[in-house]
Amino acid sequence: MAAIKVGIIGGSGLSNPDILKERTEKQVETPFGKPSDVLLCGKIGDVECVLLSRHGRGHSIMPGHVNYRANIWALKEEGCTHILVTTACGSLQDGIHPGDIVVLDQFIDRTHHRQQTFYDRTEGGPKGICHMSMAEPFCPITSEFIYKTIQELNLNHELNCNAHKTGTMLTIEGPRFSSKAESKMWNSWGAHCINMTTVPEVVLAKEAGICYAAMGLVTDYDSWREDTASVSVESVMNTMAENSKKATRVLLNVIPKLKEFDWTQKLKHNQDVVNGSILLSHS
Ligand code: ADE
Repeated sequence: MAAIKVGIIGGSGLSNPDILKERTEKQVETPFGKPSDVLLCGKIGDVECVLLSRHGRGHSIMPGHVNYRANIWALKEEGCTHILVTTACGSLQDGIHPGDIVVLDQFIDRTHHRQQTFYDRTEGGPKGICHMSMAEPFCPITSEFIYKTIQELNLNHELNCNAHKTGTMLTIEGPRFSSKAESKMWNSWGAHCINMTTVPEVVLAKEAGICYAAMGLVTDYDSWREDTASVSVESVMNTMAENSKKATRVLLNVIPKLKEFDWTQKLKHNQDVVNGSILLSHS
């Protein structure tokens, strides 16, 4: 069985280091610069984990300024085979409500100023040009583990939380929220939820051959509903604390289960896909 190591990228409201046992701190630098914060290395159950706060522990980094490449590179360098993330998001559809968890399977990219590849000839970075397939950005096996765990925990009964097995995340550049017209358009496109961070994080994890899965933690209804107040920092903050408790329970329960699966084939497949996506120049 292939050994696994799980990176956890905590979104807004989720960077509690106490979820890790035998914790140590590590400061790292990558060819792409510094990650958002120190890496917290430790264990959940008997699985090695590395926790990284996406916005820094003091929440000081805006979504558009997160060094996504340094974050993913640092976790890859630490030997992470998997990355599990949480991300606060707005609902774009009827039937998805604040407090719900959406397990993501697709994204729509509405970001504009972010570096989405490691293959740009950065010194110390990888060689060649990479045209990575994004048909299946998220790891379906890891996502299934997450969804099953949410169901087993019965969060819907205890904590008034519906789990959605799949969902398309629309990522905007931010830091502003969407106008009503934009929000209605995203809704008409069929996207399920909206945030500011899934792209390019998932894209870079895919380039790194890592199994990446994400829990969208719904905090608000964005701005498309006529009868509901539009998203504000206050509405996001109000549901954040409860959402983080649920997400923490899911992480603590799902990570030990990941170890029961033999990831050898899947990890080899990921690496084969990466290798097959790189064009090396002959000059
Ligand atoms: N994060 C949480 N809610 C959001 C929203 N409505 N739009 C973008 N990012 C969000």
